[in-house]
Amino acid sequence: MVTGATGRLGSVVRDALASEGWKVEAFSARGKGGSTALDLRDPRSVERLLSSAPDLVVNCAALSTGGACLRSPSSAWALNSVLPGLLSRRCRSESIPLLHVSTDLVYSGANPPYYETSPAVPVGLYGWTKLLGDVFVLRAQSDALVARTSVLFGEAGASRPTFSEALLGGDIGTVYVDCFRNHTPVHWLARSMLQALRRGGSGVLLLCGGEDQSRSAFAEALMRHLGKPLDGISMGYGPPGTPRLLSLRPRRAAIVLNGECPDLEKGLAEEYRRTGS
Ligand SMILES: NC(=O)c1ccc[n+]([C@@H]2O[C@H](COP(=O)([O-])OP(=O)(O)OC[C@H]3O[C@@H](n4cnc5c(N)ncnc54)[C@H](OP(=O)(O)O)[C@@H]3O)[C@@H](O)[C@H]2O)c1
Repeated sequence: MVTGATGRLGSVVRDALASEGWKVEAFSARGKGGSTALDLRDPRSVERLLSSAPDLVVNCAALSTGGACLRSPSSAWALNSVLPGLLSRRCRSESIPLLHVSTDLVYSGANPPYYETSPAVPVGLYGWTKLLGDVFVLRAQSDALVARTSVLFGEAGASRPTFSEALLGGDIGTVYVDCFRNHTPVHWLARSMLQALRRGGSGVLLLCGGEDQSRSAFAEALMRHLGKPLDGISMGYGPPGTPRLLSLRPRRAAIVLNGECPDLEKGLAEEYRRTGS
């Protein structure tokens, strides 16, 4: 069972599960693309989610941007914090494995680098609601897997674009030279989350690109990879309050996955097979 199945990550996770032969029950807010519409801000929705007694629950539903959380703090709290807690309590009592997705924005960016064991202190509402979700999950179900990831790139084809899709679609005018993130290939992430589960991964894992780079360096690397000019995209500084150095060091994840998380060139090659002109 996949929540958030129409989102950037959920749509790719759903495909990855289906390609492994799973029968996927998909939920979203609006019920597009063959998913079932269910408002997960309502605590009673958890009954419906688990009514088919799934073998695995993957929670990709979220209010996934800082702006959306500030516009609707009660929705952010219900979806990002309360829902994961309720889901994990039910999953534990029914012995269903839970994979919950979280974010690098649970860290402040003030004292990098961040390992799986680093204390998390967010700076914004989005990060706080996600951190509480992670805490509620692991308090109820200590063997749940909480996959913290970073800015997603690649061709997810969901209704909301990944960072690279937005860049290529001309929807991003300024990229920040001073904000560093572990940009993460979305198909690698979906595959690796499932692999980590199969290998018994639990607790917090940083499942993300193996190195951090500025948003501007990512944009340059993407365009260079595709042989496109950076026209129309300017370099700037992140606005006040934006975490600057969210440099993740996925140590536990590398052990569980028996290898390194991909560097940017590998990630770009996987997501965008067209190189050169
Ligand atoms: N995108 C990134 O770069 C990024 C980076 C770090 C971490 N993450 C984490 O990755 C996970 C997935 O993020 P994403 O980018 O894939 O999110 P997304 O594209 O915004 O998708 C959110 C999903 O949640 C569903 N949803 C929203 N409100 C809902 C509600 N009230 N009831 C039921 N479903 C609802 C949406 O359904 P509709 O499509 O019908 O609205 C959609 O399927 C999140 O935990 C996020 O924190 C994402």
